[in-house]
Amino acid sequence: MALRAPEGTRDFLPDEQRFWTHFKRTAASIFGRYGYQPIETPLFEQTDLFVRGIGEATDVVSKEMFTAISGENLKTLLDGGSIKAKSRLSLRPEGTAGVVRAVVQHDLVPQGAAPAKLMYAGPMFRAERPQKGRQRQFNQVGIECLGAEEPTVDAEGIIMLMRFYEAIGIPRANMRLLLNSMGCAQCRPAYRDGVKAYMDEHADGLCDECRRRSETNPLRAFDCKNPDCAAVMDGAPKIADYLCDDCRSHYDAVKRYVELAGLSFEEDPRLVRGLDYYTRTVFEVQVVEGMGSQNAIGGGGRYDKLAEEVGGRPTPGFGFALGYERCLLALQAAGMEFPGRPPCDVFVACVDDAVRETGFRIVQAARDVGLTAELDHQHRSLKSQFKLADKLNAVLVLVLGPDELEAGVVTVRNMQTHHERTVELKALRSLMERFLGASSDAGATGKLFD
Ligand code: HAM
Repeated sequence: MALRAPEGTRDFLPDEQRFWTHFKRTAASIFGRYGYQPIETPLFEQTDLFVRGIGEATDVVSKEMFTAISGENLKTLLDGGSIKAKSRLSLRPEGTAGVVRAVVQHDLVPQGAAPAKLMYAGPMFRAERPQKGRQRQFNQVGIECLGAEEPTVDAEGIIMLMRFYEAIGIPRANMRLLLNSMGCAQCRPAYRDGVKAYMDEHADGLCDECRRRSETNPLRAFDCKNPDCAAVMDGAPKIADYLCDDCRSHYDAVKRYVELAGLSFEEDPRLVRGLDYYTRTVFEVQVVEGMGSQNAIGGGGRYDKLAEEVGGRPTPGFGFALGYERCLLALQAAGMEFPGRPPCDVFVACVDDAVRETGFRIVQAARDVGLTAELDHQHRSLKSQFKLADKLNAVLVLVLGPDELEAGVVTVRNMQTHHERTVELKALRSLMERFLGASSDAGATGKLFD
C-alpha cells in the first residue's frame, strides 16, 4: 500500500503553498506597520520550557506534546538509564514560550529599553485527535510584544489582528471578538479559590477529570468539553467580581482603546484560554458560521509573569497567534479559491529535435533576462506543445522550426490575441528585455509583440 502523510498532517501543494506565502506576507505587511519584526525560533525546545511556561496541568502539556527522543537517548532509555532534563526535547506546541525564551536568552529587552515587538509564522505540533480544523501539525502566525504592560499594547495587538482577518478576506460580520481579564497574581488566587469551592460544592455534576482539576488547576474546568461540566461551570463565580483595582482599570482601558478603533466585542467572563501563562487580558476570535466546533481562528493575551517563569527578569508581555488552517476553512466557507498559477511569460515550442539546442538557448536566455520560460521535455508533437503552453497559461509562444532556424528567425505568437509575427533571433534578447520592462501586466507585455 502506498504510504500517506501521518494522520493530522497535510501537504501544501503548490497552489496552497503560494497562498500560504501570500497569507504570511499580508500578515508581515500589516504587523510591520505596528512595528513588529520577524523572529524564528527552533521547532523543538527543552520539554521543561513548555512545562514551566505553558503549565504542567494544561492539556497542551499533559496530553498533547510530541516529545522527541534522539537515537542515543532512546538507547539509554531502552538500556534502563535515564536522560538528563536538558536532553528532554519536545516539538513546540505553540510559539510564545520559545519566543520569550529567545528574548531572555539574547537580552532583547534590556532594562529601560523600548519593548521588543516580534512576529513569527510556522508549524506547531499538538497530539490532538484530528478533526476538521484540528491538526497535529498546524501553522500559526503570531506576535509577541515584551517589555510593556500598557493597555495600548493589548489594544493595538487586538486591532491589528482584526485588521489582518479583514485584509485576508474573512468577513467582519462572520467573526466574534471575545474579551476577558484573568486578573493578576494579587487577585487571581482568591478567584481560583472561589471557583474551587464552587466546584467542590457541585462535584456530583462534574466529570472525573474536572474533579481532579479542582485540586490541580480549577480554572481549566471552564475548557471542559463535557456538556454537564459546561452546565455546572456556567454558574461558577465570575472573575469580574474579583478583579483588583489595577486589573480593572487595565481591562477598562483595553476595552476603551479597542472601541476607539471602531471594533465591537463581547465580554466573555468564562474565557480562560488553554494555557496557564495568561494574566489580565485574554481574547479570542471565533468564526460564527461554517466552521463547526473548531471555530477559534486566533487568540492570545497578556502574560506578565512568563519571562520570570523561564528564568528571565520581570518583563511584561502580550501576544496572540492565529491558526492558518482555520482561517483557510473560514475563507473557503466564504467562497475563496486558491489563486491559479501565475502565467508563464514565454514558451518555446520546437518543431523537431534539430532545433532543440537553439530552443534550449532561447529558453535559458529568457530566464537569464528575468522572464519565466518553459519548453517541452518530452518530445511532444507541436500540437501538444501548444496544449502544454495553454496549460501553463503562457503569454507568448516562440515557434522554432528548421525553416525559421535557417532564416535566423522565430515565430512569436501572442496567446491572447493569436496574432503572430516573425522576429529575428538576434533581436530576441532586447525584445525580451522590453517584455520584462513592461512586466507584471500580461496583457501589456503581450502587445509588445503585436
Ligand atoms: P492557542 O489558542 O492555543 O494560543 O492557539 C492559537 C490558534 O491556533 C487557535 O486559535 C487556532 O486557530 C490554532 N490552533 C490551535 N490548535 C490547533 C490545532 N490542533 N489545529 C489547527 N489549529 C490550531 C496559542 O498558541 C498562544 N501561543 C497564543 C499567544 C501568543 N498568546 C500569547 N501570545
